[in-house]
Amino acid sequence: MKNRFLLPVYSILALIFASISPLCLEVRAQAPVPDSPAIEAQAHALLSKLTLEQKIELLGGIDNMFTRPMPAIGLPRFKMSDASVGVRTWGPTTAYAGGSALAASWDTDLARKLGDALGRDARARNVNFLLGPGVNIARSPLAGRNFEYLSEDPFLNSALVVPFIEGVESQGVIATVKHFALNDQEFNRHNASSDVDERTMREIYLPAFEAAVTKAHVDAVMNSYNLVNGVHSTQNDFLNLKVLKGEWGFAGILMSDWDSTYDGVAACNNGLDLEMPSPKFMNAGNLLPAVRAGQVKESTIDEHVLRLLRAELRYGFTARPQFDPADSTYSVADRTLALEEALESFTLLKNEGRLLPLDPAKIKNIAIIGPDAYPAVTGGGGSSEAHAFEPVSILTGVANLLGPDAHVFYSDSMPDTDAEKKAVARADVVIVAVGFDAKTEGEGHDRTFTLPAGQDVLIEQAVALNPRTIVLLTGGGGMDVNRWLDKVPALLHLYYPGQEGGTAVGQILFGQHNPEGKLPVSFDRSWDANPSAKWYYGDPRDNTTLDTTGPDGKPLDYTVEHVKYGDKLMVGYRYWTTTGKHPLYPFGYGLSYTTFAFSRLDAPATAAAGATVSVSFDVTNTGNVAGAEVAQLYVSDPSAKVDRPERELKGFAKVRLAPGETRHMTLSLDARAFSYWDEAAHKWTIDPGKFVLRVGDSSENTPLSAEIDLH
Ligand code: BGC
Repeated sequence: MKNRFLLPVYSILALIFASISPLCLEVRAQAPVPDSPAIEAQAHALLSKLTLEQKIELLGGIDNMFTRPMPAIGLPRFKMSDASVGVRTWGPTTAYAGGSALAASWDTDLARKLGDALGRDARARNVNFLLGPGVNIARSPLAGRNFEYLSEDPFLNSALVVPFIEGVESQGVIATVKHFALNDQEFNRHNASSDVDERTMREIYLPAFEAAVTKAHVDAVMNSYNLVNGVHSTQNDFLNLKVLKGEWGFAGILMSDWDSTYDGVAACNNGLDLEMPSPKFMNAGNLLPAVRAGQVKESTIDEHVLRLLRAELRYGFTARPQFDPADSTYSVADRTLALEEALESFTLLKNEGRLLPLDPAKIKNIAIIGPDAYPAVTGGGGSSEAHAFEPVSILTGVANLLGPDAHVFYSDSMPDTDAEKKAVARADVVIVAVGFDAKTEGEGHDRTFTLPAGQDVLIEQAVALNPRTIVLLTGGGGMDVNRWLDKVPALLHLYYPGQEGGTAVGQILFGQHNPEGKLPVSFDRSWDANPSAKWYYGDPRDNTTLDTTGPDGKPLDYTVEHVKYGDKLMVGYRYWTTTGKHPLYPFGYGLSYTTFAFSRLDAPATAAAGATVSVSFDVTNTGNVAGAEVAQLYVSDPSAKVDRPERELKGFAKVRLAPGETRHMTLSLDARAFSYWDEAAHKWTIDPGKFVLRVGDSSENTPLSAEIDLH
């Protein structure tokens, strides 16, 4: 509820509130209250006490992680923290598995629990603004921050981000969805322009932000570093004014990324409310003369300040301490949740001869080798990097599970003495933990598709000595496994598993938990097979120069790299299913220790275009152990007037089933599930005619299908 109120109403109320203590509004202890005439009146009363200079002062942050205080109106500063894997800025924290792992869980309830927990963790650290979640699309496996984000699919991202944000904000903490928009690579992120057509933007890159605003009512959005179609996002009128604040009705705070503002006047006029971490550009030096010259209206500045005040009042930040004694800084419940996220996300990609699960009674000698086995690799690098309480390494987690009688041989690389080798050859099983870490994958740089140096050889040597070798991969998405995949019987993807990753590895390898993760990205055979590969780095011949002014007021010309999104809608599985080619492992894929069957698809044969359509089917656990399956519903539009991806995910649900159990499931498809963005009409459109609905366990395995005619 973010309705606006007519000026006369809050003008009268402003007078009443101005006459009493300005910051005495009653607030609930936790969740924000909706906007109301009383909040509007109080925000206007505070605004009316500020000079133009003071208002401008509020438009920039301070001390890296705070909004500015304004003692003249009794306004303290409010605290922020990074967030993608944990509330990390203010000391040790619970480090969760992060975005790509959450997406691999395909569990909207888990997203809500994580949001709640991060909100509580934030309150326990006196934090008012959580600088997450990140929802940029995993267009390429090279993008350094995929592990913080979610998946390659806008529907999956939207479905997860809504409960996550609702969870955070229910705790009285503002969530900040980021990075708006099209920050899909880390390489050259300050100077790269994501050049993309409107349909691609609307169908692939904006929906998760749209859901965050229109469904979760997120109260803060962070602009990205990159330019979009040649204009910095912090001053991009299309993104900020037309779409975000216009069409979507965003009423919260639009903040910059840290030093992603490049022009104070342009940013102020094009939607930026708060320049972080300091007012390098949106400051009195730039804005006062601009107001006097009529380049910036004072009402525009007022509007930015009101957005800040309104949010702070709605959350009660001015009326209560943010620290809530009911919350724990160190929480055993959070550790349990961190373990749950890891367990739900690990994705079993190969299990030849059913090597897994291992029987702990039969494992007396185990070799655990590789750089990611110890110490624990909980997350990637950069501003999300959390200092976890007691992270559990793979070595520790597996050894704990096996207990005191097992012999555990550990080495981070291939041992070079005969005796040590023998230890690998004679082991009942070998675990090789490889992949990326906070140094090789993270913010500010892209990563390689090949594994870091020496890791392919390590796997080849291990499997040559002992064919019972299980490979564990750590990383934000796909990586090159071709050199050794056919020699290795078992492959498990861990993404970045958070602080309880080692415990989760033990429980999954030894069958205490049945793997249930499903790939949130298509796992490519090679980097050049990825549909974005030929577009990913701009052609230097397309570079342009941007004339702008530096914070010191001196002219600053810099080179803009144009990254053309020529792959358009063909991101991930949309490309693979449309071309009929296959990646190594498809989006949505993941093995279990049990098997599932889909049956009895039921959908109407006809429906009115725009009506909600119910689709139901049965899922049965046909194996011998309990397990979880993710039923995925894809929609195809073969009679569309425009080219559309062959299929698109439009529904999913996770179901836990005992052996032999069947569950009848129903998914709903709303108007958007059948729509595409009509470029000429500038709106979502349904072409009446035939649609095909497919249900299955991955983007490539959809055993059920039905046709529906929309009229
Ligand atoms: C990152 C943001 C982060 C901010 C504050 C920037 O470098 O891109 O995601 O929230 O720093 O740490």
